[in-house]
Amino acid sequence: MTGSPSVALGMRKLAGPWYLMKWLALLAALALQATCSAGSGTDHGGGFSSSQAVELAPTPPMGFNTWNRFGCDVSDGLVREMADAIVASGMRDVGYEYVVIDDCWQVDRDDEGGIIPDPERFPSGMRSLADYIHERGLKFGLYTDVGPKTCQGRPGSLGYELEDARTYAQWGVDYLKVDWCHADSLVAPTHYARFRDAVRATGRPMVLSICEWGRNRPWEWAQDVGQLWRTTSDIQDSWESLLWNLDANERHHEAAGPGHWNDPDMLEVGNGGMTTEEYRTHFSLWAMMAAPLMAGNDLRGMTDEVRGILTNAEVIAVDQDPLGVQGRVVLDRGYGIQVWAKPLSDGSMAVAVFNRRADPMDAYVRWADVGLEPGPAILRDLWSHQELGTHTDSGSYEDRYTTRVPPHGVVMLRITPESPAIPLP
Ligand code: GLA
Repeated sequence: MTGSPSVALGMRKLAGPWYLMKWLALLAALALQATCSAGSGTDHGGGFSSSQAVELAPTPPMGFNTWNRFGCDVSDGLVREMADAIVASGMRDVGYEYVVIDDCWQVDRDDEGGIIPDPERFPSGMRSLADYIHERGLKFGLYTDVGPKTCQGRPGSLGYELEDARTYAQWGVDYLKVDWCHADSLVAPTHYARFRDAVRATGRPMVLSICEWGRNRPWEWAQDVGQLWRTTSDIQDSWESLLWNLDANERHHEAAGPGHWNDPDMLEVGNGGMTTEEYRTHFSLWAMMAAPLMAGNDLRGMTDEVRGILTNAEVIAVDQDPLGVQGRVVLDRGYGIQVWAKPLSDGSMAVAVFNRRADPMDAYVRWADVGLEPGPAILRDLWSHQELGTHTDSGSYEDRYTTRVPPHGVVMLRITPESPAIPLP
């Protein structure tokens, strides 16, 4: 990595409408919280208020979901082992919280319409499983579908929204993923709002994860309905799929913020279809996009490399930064090199230099490109965990910071200007 001569230059400031809007949004959110905590912000539907809806996911949810690795092969034993592995691997300590059972846990409804979990795979029932998860300091998530059936043909929730929400609350559910199969004749904003209101009526806060794959432009309406919404079709464990979901999700960066996140789908890290470098890229760019970080691999017996990716606390800190800005491409060089930037709450800038090509490339970063004023800044590499010293971009051509990026790789940096940061409001 090459540096540039240090020239003491003036003040950094946040630049451009992108940042300004986010700071104004943060101020508005703080004002809303103050109003609501003063007692005047209770929403319709009973239960809890809109400020609590933000508090459900002030930063993107993190956890584990069964689908990517296990599909329909879910069971009580598997889920308990995953909860144990989240603790033993150190994942809980770096923020992974939700243990979510995806499709196939449900088999039927009883005479009163109550949903029935698979008695063979979940012989102790869901309450007992939820208790096990809660005892480990984790939270419990379940999956259902807006339509009459789930994507795997299990009973969906259409017409049973209130009843199902009550059941989930009794079981101790903290997170609800709601899918969109068999639902094309329905109206997404209306039908997802039914889940929001049904959950609110129970009085038990649950994160609502909207999963309609971006079909109904959720970035335009889902902020007031759920805490996260899918923007894409299902991810596959391949480089092409990663790129597809990445690009589709990046476009909607303006819709994300505390309490409401774009979801480019769950992680494939560790599932075997990509190289370690590609998984590192996957994790880095999901963090740059403030994406929910739901591990989708077998957490038992992970290799050190996979565990190291999923528990990189410096990259996770970028994802979880309280300013809640979704990073975006600030410069696309047109030959496979992109520069991504995500402003952080302490005034520093997370920067990912991304090489989409199959050969290594030298690439450079200009402070102006990532929204920083000229001047000296301290650089840190978030994968090697090393300080890279002070580098100065004075605005002249020679001062650019140059780095070598491996094929399909990223160099992920935190750039902290030396001049005093503008304090958070
Ligand atoms: C859909 C969702 C996936 C998963 C499956 C389960 O495809 O998008 O994330 O939940 O259904 O059947």
